[in-house]
Amino acid sequence: MDRFHIVGGSSLRGVVSVSGSKNAALPILFSSLLGGGMEVGNVPSLRDIRTAFSLLSQLGIRAQPLFQEEKGEVSEGPWTFSDTGNWPGKFFLSEENTTAHEAPYDLVRTMRASILCLGPLLARRRRARVSLPGGCLIGARPVDMHLNAFSRMGARISIDHGYIDANTDGLVGCDIHLPYPTVTGTENILMAATLAKGTTRIFNAAQEPEISDLAVCLNGRGARIEGIGTSSLKITGVDSLLPSSYGVMADRIEAGTFMVAGALLGDPLTVQNIDVTCLSSLLGTLRAMGADFEETPGSVTLARIRKPCGASVRTEPYPGFPTDMQAQILPLMSIAKGSSTVVETVFENRFTHVMEMNRMGANIDVHGSRAFVHGMSSLEGASVMASDLRASAGLVLAALIANGESEIQRVYHIDRGYERIERKLEKLGARIKRVRGEDVP
Ligand code: EPZ
Repeated sequence: MDRFHIVGGSSLRGVVSVSGSKNAALPILFSSLLGGGMEVGNVPSLRDIRTAFSLLSQLGIRAQPLFQEEKGEVSEGPWTFSDTGNWPGKFFLSEENTTAHEAPYDLVRTMRASILCLGPLLARRRRARVSLPGGCLIGARPVDMHLNAFSRMGARISIDHGYIDANTDGLVGCDIHLPYPTVTGTENILMAATLAKGTTRIFNAAQEPEISDLAVCLNGRGARIEGIGTSSLKITGVDSLLPSSYGVMADRIEAGTFMVAGALLGDPLTVQNIDVTCLSSLLGTLRAMGADFEETPGSVTLARIRKPCGASVRTEPYPGFPTDMQAQILPLMSIAKGSSTVVETVFENRFTHVMEMNRMGANIDVHGSRAFVHGMSSLEGASVMASDLRASAGLVLAALIANGESEIQRVYHIDRGYERIERKLEKLGARIKRVRGEDVP
């Protein structure tokens, strides 16, 4: 298992370009199961994206890498998905086998977002057998809302030896009132409804920008989705989708992570290739903590906040403060003047990074869903263990400001969602090295 060795204290100066969004790319890639063929660009080179391609391949989707389109070259070459040094970023996805319908445990256990194949498989192939995603460290994360919606749309669903077994004679649109605006639940229903008979309306839909990205991509292929970006989506089913080309949006969580890095150590740091409008709750918090930044439509420039003040944050569905940024804001709160609070409302167990940050000298008390952060003058380097994707990003930021050296173990978590983060940070002036270990199975 690889680890990061970080020497804290270096300023970060220059420009960092944000990669394509993991959480937008995943549903868009799974939407290839709806048929029609599609070209997808700005696909980030991430562990979770490779898992998605493996699963899609088992489900009969062929992903052809497209290299250097600006030179008019299209290569199928000897390229494989493990070739991380030569990632094309653009793929043509087409259906080769339309009878495959099983998402096995081995893949689903490594990536819960594999559940996103369920809606498209049911809609297009009328059959799906998908390993039930278990809980994970951050919460129980059931998929009951996905399954209830598909039942209402006419799927017969049973749970059999840890698998969701579902089939239908054809999905039929209906009104779905979500008890909570689930992100992947909304995406799964949206994809299924695209090919269902009649009209589906989703009330209390999640409004995350990644859902809008998926909906715009689907409409470009002939789907009929209205209300994009709102909590009420109306989908009029169509018979089939058409081939088209789409570029995945930039990753707002990667952007947010670098923005916090800028607030901690920027000299100054420009985060570019972003949609600033998706980041307003984070920008509001950074402003309240003392950040001064320059904004353009595609970038934000921040310098280190000399004397950050404490703040209160409550994680909520979009447009609220993202739970995926909670671990990264804690290092800034840890060195702020006075105290700060974080209330985590989305996942029931998303403070595992706090114990590790406290080992670095932070002073954070967790009581249930609340973290009380007592600002300290500095953090100290230590050896710490990453427990999930965003927790790892929070620990990297803490190590970058800590005095002395830190080791972050289990960085495979961060490779699931950040494209070569150590290279991007190193270019900005951070002293960070990846120490190679044995591969994670
Ligand atoms: C998505 O997860 C993201 N994953 C997560 O990003 C993100 O943290 C989360 O949304 C919240 O923004 C992807 O987009 C691939 P939810 P998702 O369904 O869809 C409960 C990252 O680090 N719930 O909105 O799984 C659930 O337990 C990841 O990139 C049910 O009870 O989140 C949770 O408490 C981690 N029943 C809450 O809703 C259901 O059927 C929100 O979950 C579905 C969800």
